[in-house]
Amino acid sequence: MEHFDIVLALSRIALDADAPRAAHQLERLKALLTETDKEQAGKLGRLLTKGARRQAMAPMALEEMRSTAEAARRHLPGETLTPSTPLPHDRETSAPLVNIQFPEGIETEPPILTERLSAAIDDLLNEWQRADELDRIGTRPHTRCLIFGPPGVGKTKLAHYLAKRLELPCVEARLDGLVSSFLGTTARNIGSLFDFANRYRCVLFLDEFDAIAKARDDAQEVGEIKRVVNSLLQSLDGRDGKGFTLAATNHEHLLDTAVWRRFDARIHLGLPDAETRGKLLDTFVKPLSLQGAERRFLQWATEGMSGADVEALIDAGKRFIVLHGGADADGRKRRDAATRGRTILEALRRHALLSGRLFRPDRAALLMGSDEALMQALLNESFTQQETGDLVGLSQSQVSRRKARPETRAGTDG
Ligand SMILES: Nc1ncnc2c1ncn2[C@@H]1O[C@H](COP(=O)(O)OP(=O)(O)OP(=O)(O)O)[C@@H](O)[C@H]1O
Ligand SMILES: [Mg+2]
Repeated sequence: MEHFDIVLALSRIALDADAPRAAHQLERLKALLTETDKEQAGKLGRLLTKGARRQAMAPMALEEMRSTAEAARRHLPGETLTPSTPLPHDRETSAPLVNIQFPEGIETEPPILTERLSAAIDDLLNEWQRADELDRIGTRPHTRCLIFGPPGVGKTKLAHYLAKRLELPCVEARLDGLVSSFLGTTARNIGSLFDFANRYRCVLFLDEFDAIAKARDDAQEVGEIKRVVNSLLQSLDGRDGKGFTLAATNHEHLLDTAVWRRFDARIHLGLPDAETRGKLLDTFVKPLSLQGAERRFLQWATEGMSGADVEALIDAGKRFIVLHGGADADGRKRRDAATRGRTILEALRRHALLSGRLFRPDRAALLMGSDEALMQALLNESFTQQETGDLVGLSQSQVSRRKARPETRAGTDG
């Protein structure tokens, strides 16, 4: 289908506005595309799955989102950025310095974080609705957030979500255009980038921020890095009151301390805890679902993984189930718990082989070792004999016969 990107953007808007009816029509379109263009059908399918996830969002969403966005628009100055606005370029290479994401093209769901952190982030946004009151007591909403943490935990996703909630275009700095080997050019590009962002009402997003905000004492690149960081500091100061600035890095220890201080919110996204991993699993596994013990088993197996790792694991699991698990593509076929459990275990083993050091070493050793050792570990983790049997693919009596130690908790919920 021609202009499929536009169709996809429109589909996203329609799903945001009236999910059930739009979803029905898009399912029809997907069925038609399956005949002619499998790649496009797949993209639409993924959008629909995400749409279904969105429907599970609290009803607060739409009203609250609109009033936050209106308030932010009222308080932030600048011209309106449109798809036809000319973008800034590097003078020597003509490479564009930015990439713009308009809010319609950004997914609505927030990253899955701990409840406390999600509430704190909601507060950052809700401040805009109280901006006048804040002004009266001499303060204002946060406008400069640094997001830091290990790879794959949702930093970029959080930045996009904030722009979406503010309904502002997200002006993303392009490092390939921005960073130049010509002396002085990177600093000049940073100036042009901020001039552009300050002119329009937008969120400026500096992803992989350490590339331009490294400590000025870096022994190898002293002259140039000093120039770049000084220009960045000036630009950050000059952006005061002009718009929202976000930066993300997974090397926060490399950042120049003066740059670090320029941010009024510094959000640490760590690796997800067990509860958050449970929520990530529930989200990614859709349209399939996990039973109680399977979910706890995967929470245990994924300890130490990022959200992106969990997503990749579940994706691999879905592929494995279609190839080897006897389920149809929608996973509708019901199978007994032990067969399901064994399939999940085999899927984890396969993914461990193909994903290089993804699992925590102790988890990998147990998953890839003998059934007996895994069985024992699960019993020690408070899985019941029945649950352990189901997960390893043995009957409860086989588990109790093979079990090495008698003092495990049995039959509490299995
Ligand atoms: N907390 C999360 N909630 C929901 N999805 C997540 C989360 N963390 C990661 N993901 C999934 O992993 C993908 C990659 O996440 P993202 O790019 O935001 O990570 P990042 O922290 O920016 O990583 P990097 O440091 O490598 O840039 C997301 O698009 C999303 O599908
Ligand atoms: Mg990122």
